[in-house]
Parts: sequence; structure tokens; C-alpha cells
Amino acid sequence: MTPLDAGIAAKSVYSIARWTFVDAAGRYDVDLGNSYVPSRRLSDLTVPADLKLDYGTDRGTTELRDRIAGLYGGRPESVTVTHGAQEALFLLFDVLLRPGDQVIAFNPGWQPLLDLPPRLGASVTVLPYGPDLSVDAAAVTAAAGENLRLIALNSPCNPTGLRVEEEELRALVALVAERDAYLLVDEEYAIDLSRSPAVGQDRVISVSGLSKTYGLPGLRTGWVYGSPQVAEACAERKFLTSIANSVLCEALACSALDRHENYAREYHRLCAPGLRLVEKWAARHPDAVRLVPPQGTPFAWIQLRTGETSLALCRRALEAGLLLTPGETMGSDEGFRLGFARDVDTVTEGLRRLDTVLLPDGPSGG
Ligand SMILES: Cc1ncc(COP(=O)(O)O)c(C=O)c1O
Repeated sequence: MTPLDAGIAAKSVYSIARWTFVDAAGRYDVDLGNSYVPSRRLSDLTVPADLKLDYGTDRGTTELRDRIAGLYGGRPESVTVTHGAQEALFLLFDVLLRPGDQVIAFNPGWQPLLDLPPRLGASVTVLPYGPDLSVDAAAVTAAAGENLRLIALNSPCNPTGLRVEEEELRALVALVAERDAYLLVDEEYAIDLSRSPAVGQDRVISVSGLSKTYGLPGLRTGWVYGSPQVAEACAERKFLTSIANSVLCEALACSALDRHENYAREYHRLCAPGLRLVEKWAARHPDAVRLVPPQGTPFAWIQLRTGETSLALCRRALEAGLLLTPGETMGSDEGFRLGFARDVDTVTEGLRRLDTVLLPDGPSGG
């Protein structure tokens, strides 16, 4: 097997990239699949007209790092700006992991957390969530070997929508401190980072960005927030991947963060009515689905009770012009991800089409 083949073999069976960019691309007109709020327009943001289009700096402009640090109540030395949270994960894993290291991660989950470590020679211990989809610190402790280097969490989680409980987080922070390991918390879906577990904890690293709750994925702006040493090491690696972010996107990101409160308000305003519709819809179909009540995400995890796999259902939904996200893209065929941070008409129409494929013979229970 060539190194290239080995890389391909290590990939998850059905990737989200394949679903999003190939199989589903251009085949829907109602999107309840994507995990972010509807994308904003450039005209929502401002940028100085005389901005010089020079290279930026590896760690990000001081102006942007100041604003990101402010979200955590921390210092700019703790921040390295990256091309989306995705590059942050890549840099961080490259900085922290060596062959033979152990990473503990959870399934279902965001693929890079599971797929990247083996490419760097580390082994991944994949733990299932508890029956209520919770993270159990005792199970993590039991799975931790001598070579534990990193525990990778996603809170709130894509796809389950759930947060890791404070008590479990405290136990995991203590575990990594005791073992000279690190705790990564992917907080891509957190709108309030002032209570991030990384605040004031040198061994906890937060990764987040502007793609999801701000609706600005086109800015490709994410970050690592951790100890100055970790942030610095990520900046050093970044010279090898992208040198620096675009100064134009960084200036636009500053403009968005200057209105953080507006974005947060708008995020909650968008989520609430859509979620109510999804709750009512799920309550009408107790035999077919179970809604896992989301804890702050713009989407919900819907467990299927029909016996059909998630991918099969999502493919049929696509034929009705409806985009959902199959759980298989995140390691589970037992459910699908349903985005509800949309206007009420879009959610209503999406759920109507979902009814036609979920229960082709007519909805049960009225
Ligand atoms: C949990 C999680 N982390 C990271 C990312 C990467 O997003 P981006 O690079 O756009 O910030 C995603 C995207 O879906 C995600 O769901």
C-alpha cells in the first residue's frame, strides 16, 4: 500500500465531504441539513476601503486576536487565528501528537477528531456516548492508557446537540493535569465562550470559529485558544499550511466580532421558532423518531425508529428536494441531523417533505 493509499484507507467510510460536495450538491431546494445559520451577506460587514492587501501574520492580526481573546475574557497571546476551526484542529493535532500517543474521542462525532490522529501515527480510542448520549468521565479514565496525550471533546456536540456536563468536564481537566495530557474542547457551536472550559486552564484548548453561529463560513475564520505556548506552536505550524489568513477576511471578522451581541441575539432569535416546530413535529411521530433536545446547537439529532438507515432516509429526502445530514457522515446510521435555525416557512416546508418520505403511507398520530 502506498502512503497515499494508506491515507485514503484511514478515511471514514462515508465522508461528510462526499455527501455535501458530491452526492447532495445541487439536488435540493430546502436545506435542513447544513449545521449553520443561513449565511450572511458581505454587505452586513464593513472593511476599511484603504485596507492594504499585504500578507497577514501567521497568528492573526492583533486587532482580531484581541477581539477573539475578549470572547473568553483572556489575552491575545492565547489565540492563533486559523482557516476555520478545521485548520485549527489540524495544526493542533500536528503540534500535540507523536507516533504511539493515545487520543480518546467519541462516536458519533465530527470526523477529523477521529480521522486525523491515525494519520500522525497516534492511536484513537473511540468511546461511545452513554445511553443518554452523555460523556462519562469515569469511562474516559478507565480507557486512558500510559500514553494518553489528548482527550478530544465537542461541546455542544455535532451531531448530538448536547453539552458535556460541568462535573464531567472538571473530572477530565483533573485527569489531563495528572497525566501531562491535554483536553481539546471543540466549541464550534458555542456562542458564549466566556464560560469555556479553556478559561484559566493551561491544559485545556478551545477551538471555535465564525462559521456556524455567526453564519460566516465563507470568511474561513477560526481559532485555537489555549496556553501561549500552544498558540505559538500552532502559529509556527501554520507557516507550513497557509502562512497567514487573508487580511481581508480578518478585517471582516473584526467587523463581525464588534457586533458580537447582535449576532448572539440574532442566533437565538433564529433558533427558537424553528426548534418549536421540530419539537411539535417529533411529538407527532413518536413511533418513527425521537428528538434529542438540543443544548444550544442550531440543529437537532433525530434518532430513527423505523428500522431504516439514516443514509437511506436522507437519500429519499433528497429526491424530494430536502437536504438532511445522514448520521453515517459522523459514524452512526441511527439518526440524522436536522437544522432548524431557518425562517419558519423553510422549516415548515422541510418538515412537510420529511413527512412524505419518513412515512410514505401517511403520518401517524394526526
Ligand atoms: C464540530 C466541528 N468542528 C469544526 C468544524 C469546522 O468548521 P469551520 O472550519 O468552518 O470552522 C465543523 C464544521 O462542520 C464542526 O462541525
